[in-house]
Amino acid sequence: MYEDLQDRWYVIADAAEVRAGKPLPLRRFGEDLVLWRDGHGQVAAVLDRCPHRGVPLHNGRVRDGDIECPFHGFRYDGRGQCTRMPCEGDEPGLVSRYRTRAFVLREAHGWIWLWRGQPREHYPEIAYFDELRPGDAQHTTSVVWNTNYIRCIENQLDFTHLPFVHGNTIGKGMSKGRMIVHTRIDGDRIRAWADVGPNEARDREPAYLELIAPNIWILTFAKRMVNFLAFVPIDETHTQLYLRLYQRVITVPGLSWLFGWMMNLANRVVLQQDRRVVEASLPPRPTPDVREMLVPTDAPVIAYRRMLTREAKARRRSLPLHADAPREPTP
Ligand code: FES
Ligand SMILES: [Fe+2]
Repeated sequence: MYEDLQDRWYVIADAAEVRAGKPLPLRRFGEDLVLWRDGHGQVAAVLDRCPHRGVPLHNGRVRDGDIECPFHGFRYDGRGQCTRMPCEGDEPGLVSRYRTRAFVLREAHGWIWLWRGQPREHYPEIAYFDELRPGDAQHTTSVVWNTNYIRCIENQLDFTHLPFVHGNTIGKGMSKGRMIVHTRIDGDRIRAWADVGPNEARDREPAYLELIAPNIWILTFAKRMVNFLAFVPIDETHTQLYLRLYQRVITVPGLSWLFGWMMNLANRVVLQQDRRVVEASLPPRPTPDVREMLVPTDAPVIAYRRMLTREAKARRRSLPLHADAPREPTP
C-alpha cells in the first residue's frame, strides 16, 4: 500500500482548537494524543495515557504549564518528562527517570503541525502557500470522512469527476467530454489545472489546485478567494478534513465572517458530494498491489502516487537488510 511520507510536517489541528488551560484529546495517525498550551502559550503533546496506570491525561488539568494526571497527580512537561510525583514525595531520582512519549509540534499559519519522522536537531521550515496572506479574512470548518487521507487527497487532485459528481454545483455546465489536465511538479508541490472546454471562457488565469505534500492543498477558485484543505489522518480509515476559506472580497469584520460561513456551507455541500464516492473507493488506503487503470487525465494523481512510491523505495534501500524485513510489494 502507499505509505505515509516521512520526515515531514503534517497539519494535525486548527490552532484555535487548542485553548489555554484546556487539554485537547485528539486521535491522530491511530494514536491518542493530548495537546495543551504550556506556560508560554506554546503547544505541547504527549500520548493521552498516563504511563503510571493508563488513565487518559486529557481529563486532567494544566498546572504550571505541565499536564497533570487526574488519578494520582503525576505531571509531564511538553518533552514528556515527569516533573511531579506527589505520592513519592517528588523523589528526584525517580521523577527524573520517569517519562512518557512526546511529539514534536509547531504552530504556524493558524495550524498545529506534527513532525512525523526521525527526531533531529534542526527541523525544516514549514512550507505554505504564497497565495494565502495573513491579512485575508478566514473561515474554518471541518468534517470527518470514513476513509484514508490518501484517498481524500487524490480526490482533490482529480478534475474529471467535476461534471459527474458535482453536476448541480461546481461542475454545473461543464462539458462531460474531453478534458486536458496540466500538471507541474516541484519538490513536494503538485500544481494542476485543466482546460475544461469552450463553456469555460475565462477572462483570467485558469483556476488551479496545488498540493504541498504531505497534507495541505489549495484551490484558487475565484478572484481573491482561495479554498484551503488539510487532510488530517485520524487513523487508517478516518480523516478529518479542515476547510478554510481565505478571501479578500468582503473584509468588514462580522460581515466577512458571515460571508465565510455561507461560502463554507456551500463548500460542505460540495464535499458531501465527494464523500459518497470517495468513501466507497476500496481499499480505503490505495495500494500498488490492487492496480487501478489510470488514464492521462489522472496525471496529478499519478504524480502523487509516484512521489509516495519513490520515497518508500528510497527508505527501504536505506534500511539495513534483515531476514524479517517486510518485502516490498510488487509494483
Ligand atoms: S494513573 Fe496517572 S498518576 Fe497514576
Ligand atoms: Fe469533488
